[in-house]
Amino acid sequence: MISFNEDAKIFTLQSKGFMYQMKVLKEGHLAHLRAGHPVPDPDLSHLLRPNELPDCSETGRDKASFMDNVMLEFPCGGIGDYREPCIEVMDNAGHLACDLRYVSYSISEGKPELKGLPATFAAAEEAQTLSIKLLDNLLGLEVTLFYTVFEDLGAIARSAKATSLKDKLFIKRFLSLCLDLSSSSWDMITLSGAWARERYANRVPLHAGKQRIESSRGESSHQFNPFIALAEKGASEDSGKAFGFSFVYSGNFLAQAEISSMGMPRVVMGINPQNFTWVLEAGESFQSPEAILSYSEEGIGGMSRTLHDLYRKHLIRSPYVSKKRPVLINNWEATYFNFDTDKLLGICREAAKAGIELFVLDDGWFGKRNDDNTSLGDWYANEAKLPGGLSRLANEVNALGMKFGLWFEPEMISPESELYKEHPDWCIHIPGRSRTLARNQLVLDYSRKEVRDHIYSMVKAVLSSANIEYVKWDMNRNLSEVGNAIYAPDRQQEISHRYVLGVYDLMERLVSDFPNLLLENCSGGGARFDPGMLYYSPQIWTSDNVDPIERLKIQSGTSLAYPPSAMGAHVGDVPCHSNGRITPISTRGNVAMFGTFGFELDLTKISKEDLEQVPALIAQYHKCNDLARDGDLYRIGNIFTDNTWDAWMFVSKDKSEALLEYVQVLASSNTPSRRIQLKGLKEGFWYKNDETGMVLSAETLMHDGLDMWIKGDFSSKVIRFEKAKV
Ligand code: GLA
Repeated sequence: MISFNEDAKIFTLQSKGFMYQMKVLKEGHLAHLRAGHPVPDPDLSHLLRPNELPDCSETGRDKASFMDNVMLEFPCGGIGDYREPCIEVMDNAGHLACDLRYVSYSISEGKPELKGLPATFAAAEEAQTLSIKLLDNLLGLEVTLFYTVFEDLGAIARSAKATSLKDKLFIKRFLSLCLDLSSSSWDMITLSGAWARERYANRVPLHAGKQRIESSRGESSHQFNPFIALAEKGASEDSGKAFGFSFVYSGNFLAQAEISSMGMPRVVMGINPQNFTWVLEAGESFQSPEAILSYSEEGIGGMSRTLHDLYRKHLIRSPYVSKKRPVLINNWEATYFNFDTDKLLGICREAAKAGIELFVLDDGWFGKRNDDNTSLGDWYANEAKLPGGLSRLANEVNALGMKFGLWFEPEMISPESELYKEHPDWCIHIPGRSRTLARNQLVLDYSRKEVRDHIYSMVKAVLSSANIEYVKWDMNRNLSEVGNAIYAPDRQQEISHRYVLGVYDLMERLVSDFPNLLLENCSGGGARFDPGMLYYSPQIWTSDNVDPIERLKIQSGTSLAYPPSAMGAHVGDVPCHSNGRITPISTRGNVAMFGTFGFELDLTKISKEDLEQVPALIAQYHKCNDLARDGDLYRIGNIFTDNTWDAWMFVSKDKSEALLEYVQVLASSNTPSRRIQLKGLKEGFWYKNDETGMVLSAETLMHDGLDMWIKGDFSSKVIRFEKAKV
């Protein structure tokens, strides 16, 4: 998979359908040669255009033009390359230039862990890792670049480690990935949004200058997701070249494409350099988070399927990754803060009758919390609301045949809390400056171990006090006034990253101490839906918006990078609490079946007709979830370009089963029904339609299609196909 041509000094990384090559130049700079379709040629040095861009190592004449135009693997600032660098280092004299040259390489089987950071993993026979050592002699700075190639997937994982060999250095920027390409005919796809409309897909042509998305909010954010794609002009959902770039990190990030004056794109991805400086004392190292590069020649759909497989096989560690998750009911939209044991058990009794398997008690069970103004940090049950505490409630829920789960927001502190009275300095703050509230709460300083230890001991005590089999870990505000009274002045700019490392430390402790716990991440809906979180939890709450029509956009956008099996999806009440829309429960169910499936409404209050449909929806989930969870996703509709309908398919890996889901947003009269062409089936196979019993060839289903005869706005259907003998 990884080889080095000693004569031409070319590294070749080859995985399924993807080849990545780089070359050590005469002066030791590491150039990027090409990334794309595999080719057999042993030496493609001519792709660096030596006639137009002579390597100036002999004369040194106009070296700046060379540095500013050559394709590089890990560009440095301050030495004539004026495009976006991956690294900026300040020495003790205040100088900023850095010039990294090749030293050596090594290749190992499998993939080493990144200590303290989430990262993809692979067994020795599944992947190889290349480490390339670079050195700036003057600074005494060693940088090791890591490239892992996954044998069965068109993807590589990249990260970098900086080590100071002699003096104190200030790392002002240290990105994880750079990809220089030679032609500018690409569109950039990003996922942007806000609370209740997370991850809408945008596609725009690359143009001269820098097109960037970022977060400086302390988490990956509602506003932009740490993912971009470059799709070749004209590439569609099903054909053409597409690169996916995904950052395995949950904090401040930068993802940027820049078109240089020569029309060449440079993509970079990593920790956002804004408000970041990391101090390296002599002998210390800094490891960057990991970034993923994936490549597909089957369009945007192929890129998504590669990322889904990569994350399901090589990132999500949870034992639940390919297990059916219990059908849950969450009381948030059913009761908000207004509940007691009796009310909750009333909902649970109806839920148990309908076949629901897990009850999740959301916000409001602890301290004195009856609204969102108090008690974050006081992690003990409110016995006034829950007499007998959590263990009594959990026992009663268990007695109904259901599991019990619990909501926490462990990173937060309410100014009105016992914890704040005891430790007013435990929140992130700048001494002397007023502390900006959001949802009337402050963020705990997870860069401090004593804070993490204290919170974890409370969380652990609660989890050990009752039979709690699921946790929803929430995070409901962004960071502000990032600082503390503890760190030295020159280490204050480390706090945003140390905060994220602290969150990871706690999640690691949680999943190690409670290995069978089903953990769902959440952040004011879906503000921290990122690969970093998937390392710890197999599912993430996708959005507080459970309207199935707006969910089409949210789930479709999210699916560009993330597997549906990771998307928390619930059937909510009508009118929908976010937008007032009324939709049939069948469509709410069909759309929630795309992801993990659950309910978020008061079953004692919904209409009799709707209640009667719940068991059938659950039965359908049990029938379809294996396919949705482990199969390949094919998007058929594009809700961003035509919002009158949507459709998608899940196809089993062996192509013997498939599921078509169709939603008609807007019905029309006296027009032929919409004819949908299926995708992903295997030519030569015949499939039986479980709705009509009709057996048709894959060819007919994919080329002629099926008529979606259905009446009514917001109506939907799910059809299952099984391979048939003819
Ligand atoms: C966030 C979550 C919701 C709910 C509330 C509770 O908004 O996204 O699902 O848990 O917090 O306060």
